[in-house]
Amino acid sequence: MKNNFKYIIHNNGDVSAKNPAKAIEMFPLSCGRDARKFHRQIPDYHMTPLVALPNLAHLLGVGGIYVKNEAERLHMNSFKVMGGSYAIYRLVKQILGRENEDLSFDYLTSRECHEALGNIVFCSATDGNHGRGLAWACQKLDHPCKIYVHSETSQARIRAIEHFGAEVTVVSGNYDDAVRQAAEDAKKNGWYVVSDTSWPGYEQIPTWIMQGYNSIMLEAQEQFSGMGIVKPTHVFVQAGVGALAASVVGFYSALFPNDPPLFIVVEPTKAPCVYESIAAGDGKCHSVKGDLDTIMAGLACGDPSPVAFEILRDNADIFLQVPDNVAARGMRILGCPLHGDPLVISGESGAVPLGTLFALCTDEIDPALKEALHLDMDSLIFMINTEGNTDPTEFRRILWDGKNPTPERYRVKE
Ligand SMILES: Cc1ncc(COP(=O)(O)O)c(C=O)c1O
Repeated sequence: MKNNFKYIIHNNGDVSAKNPAKAIEMFPLSCGRDARKFHRQIPDYHMTPLVALPNLAHLLGVGGIYVKNEAERLHMNSFKVMGGSYAIYRLVKQILGRENEDLSFDYLTSRECHEALGNIVFCSATDGNHGRGLAWACQKLDHPCKIYVHSETSQARIRAIEHFGAEVTVVSGNYDDAVRQAAEDAKKNGWYVVSDTSWPGYEQIPTWIMQGYNSIMLEAQEQFSGMGIVKPTHVFVQAGVGALAASVVGFYSALFPNDPPLFIVVEPTKAPCVYESIAAGDGKCHSVKGDLDTIMAGLACGDPSPVAFEILRDNADIFLQVPDNVAARGMRILGCPLHGDPLVISGESGAVPLGTLFALCTDEIDPALKEALHLDMDSLIFMINTEGNTDPTEFRRILWDGKNPTPERYRVKE
């Protein structure tokens, strides 16, 4: 395999090999609409742009490339706040025994709601963006928030979480160790864990988080319909624990069960836990060990989320693992676009789908894979830029100083 890529052709668009039943149950349209109804009450909420890159699409020989730019989400520089805020909303309704009511954002952030909830504490592990989103939501509700990060988390990411008043604990080990420590401390202290990853017996809140992400696709579908597009033909989505990917794949599988887009799930070669779980072939989650040392900090996860994995296993088509230089090149392409295409500020985890598409179309990855994907002028490709420059120093190192360069043989030729 060239440039450290690895891929598995799993369902390959064969609808009869897929099983959207769980996706239909988990991601009914009503649930995305409920999330959207909640999100649109948040002050300053607006749809993030669905950015078209027509000149890049022309260069790569595809019909269209559309990037949902979550760097512009609620001044948070990442999509993650959509999941954490919706899960807190659902959790508060549950704690108050008011599940069947619509509680307004004004009520949630009121003194009255604060007092009704009493002294409660929210907590979670994070590799950065989820923790920041949760801290933001807790600050609005005026409840304490405890966030656990692993020891390789950058100071910039820690400061961004503390900025919203959360207390940050640094755990030695990797992201998965931070997840375990947060769950253990929460149990001891009676805190509410609002984790974006699931484990046996802890599934409801991660499911709400994935449902909260559905707001993003509902926005995108509105934007597509404004362009006269019914749905994308291809969806490239990045995976850490797999929650975002399951939300995207689940949303489209539930909406178009008979004719879903082709789903391509991308992970770093240094943290390919979803890929390895598919590769094992037994339908179960498998962990990847080690320090998960990738520049894609948001994807540096060793344990897949079981509730997310089930959706991906049953519906996604291609699983890919790609080296860090692919994400870095994606950042540079988005940050230094072709003349006439808009500029998109994208971080390491945000840019990897575009870097992967570019590598595929320029035959850096096996041409047989490009063929299997049927990438041509009829292809309308959707992806999410899940973060902006969430680590500004690293962003400059990559864009300005050329860190993580493209290997010589794959660079732009005459
Ligand atoms: C920027 C960014 N993109 C993508 C992801 C992947 O999300 P998930 O862990 O749900 O797969 C994350 C997770 O933290 C992230 O921060």
